[in-house]
Amino acid sequence: MAIEIEQPTVGLSRIAISDTHGEDSPYFAGWKAYDENPYDESKNPSGVIQMGLAENQVSFDLLEEYLEQHSEACLGGSGISSFRENALFQDYHGLKTFRKAMASFMEKIRGGRAKFDPERIVLTAGATAANELLTFILADPGDALLVPTPYYPGFDRDLRWRTGVKIVPVHCDSSNNFQITPKALEDAYNTATSMNIKVRGLLMTNPSNPLGAAIQRSVLKEILDFVTRKNIHLVSDEIYSGSVFSSSEFISIAEILEARNYKDSERVHIVYSLSKDLGLPGFRVGTIYSYNDKVVTTARRMSSFSLISSQTQHLLASMLSDTKFTENYIKTNRERLRKRYEMIIEGLKKAGIECLKGNAGLFCWMNLSPLLENPTREGELDLWDSFLHEVKLNISPGSSCHCSEPGWFRVCFANMSEQTLDVALKRIHEFMEQRKSKKKLSLQ
Ligand SMILES: Cc1ncc(COP(=O)(O)O)c(C=O)c1O
Repeated sequence: MAIEIEQPTVGLSRIAISDTHGEDSPYFAGWKAYDENPYDESKNPSGVIQMGLAENQVSFDLLEEYLEQHSEACLGGSGISSFRENALFQDYHGLKTFRKAMASFMEKIRGGRAKFDPERIVLTAGATAANELLTFILADPGDALLVPTPYYPGFDRDLRWRTGVKIVPVHCDSSNNFQITPKALEDAYNTATSMNIKVRGLLMTNPSNPLGAAIQRSVLKEILDFVTRKNIHLVSDEIYSGSVFSSSEFISIAEILEARNYKDSERVHIVYSLSKDLGLPGFRVGTIYSYNDKVVTTARRMSSFSLISSQTQHLLASMLSDTKFTENYIKTNRERLRKRYEMIIEGLKKAGIECLKGNAGLFCWMNLSPLLENPTREGELDLWDSFLHEVKLNISPGSSCHCSEPGWFRVCFANMSEQTLDVALKRIHEFMEQRKSKKKLSLQ
C-alpha cells in the first residue's frame, strides 16, 4: 500500500511547476483511458484499443530469433572479463564498436546514398534526450525553434519544458498535403520576429510524424535554402527513416548535403533512434549526428546526463554489425509495415474514410472532418471523445499535434496484432454505419 504523507506547501522550482510539458493534452489523456481499460481479445474484448502509440511490434520475431542464436550478445560478451568491462565502462564517447555499427545501419537505411562518420555520432537515451539536448545547445531560454505542424506532441515537452525555448509553429495544411512551403516558413519566421523572438532553428521530422509521409527532395532543398538565408540551424528528426516502405522514397538531409559537397552543413544536425525502426523504445537508444564540430563536442559532454548502458551498446553493436541480419530486418520490416498500412487504408476506405497518401511510419493520418458537427477544435475533441468512450479506440486528435485544420486524426497500426487491427476496423465500420443512419433519420 502506498505511504500517504501530508504534503506541506514547500516551494518547488519554476520548471517543476510549469505546465509547458504539455502532458495535459488529449494525446496523453487517451493513453490513460487505455491503461485503465485495455483491450484483450479473451480477457477484455470490449476494452479500449490503443491506436495512439507509435510502436513497432511487427518484427519482434526477427529480433528474438537473433537473440536466441546470439545469447552471448545479450550479456555483453562471454565470460567474467566482459561482465567487468561492461560494469565499469562509463565513457561518454560510447563504445566505438557500437558507434560504427550505428553509422553503418544509418547508411543502410538510406540505401547507401549517405555516409556517416562514427566520430560524429553522439549517443543519447533515445530521440527524446537528443532533441532536448540539441535545443539546449542551439538556443537560449526565450529563443524559438520553428516546427512545422502538425507535429509529434512530445515536442512540447522535449523542446520547451526544461530548456525554456519557445516553439513557433510553421502552419501546413491539407491544400498541398501538409507540405512545408517557403511561404509558410517565411510567415512563421516573421511572426516570431514581430514578437521580438529570436529564431535559432527549424526542427522538422522526416518522414513526418503524424503524417506518415517522407519529405520530397525539392522541399528539402527549399528548407536548406531557407535556413541558410536566415542563418539558423536545421534539426532533422529522422527517427522513422527505416520505416519508409521503400528506401528510394526516403531522402535524408544527409543525402542533400552530400550532393552539395557539405556546403552549409555546419548548421545541420540529424536525430535518430532505434525506438521506431527496430521497435526498441524501452532500450532508450538515440543519437545526434552533427556536421558541426562544436555541437558534437558539446553534445558529447552533455550526453553524460542521458547515456546508454554499456550492456545495451554491446548487444546492439553485435546485432547491427551483422550485415545478414540488418539487411533482412530492414527489408522484411518494411514489407510488413507496408502490408499493415495497406490493410488499414483499405479498411478505412471501406468505412468511407479517406487518409492522406503516405509512404512511411507506424501510423496514418485520417480525415474525419466530414463527421464534425462543428468544424472547430471543440468539435474535433467531441468526436475524439466519442471514439474513446463509445468506439473504445484511442486515436490522437490533430489538435494535440497542433494541426490548424480540425477533423484530422493520427491512427497507429503497428503496435498490435493483425487480429486486433481487424477488430478496430470493424468498430470503426460500425460507428460510421451508425452515423450514416442517424444522419438519414435527421434528414427525414
Ligand atoms: C518524431 C519523434 N521524435 C522523437 C520521438 C521520441 O523517441 P524516443 O523513444 O527515441 O525517445 C518520437 C516518439 O514517438 C517521435 O515520434
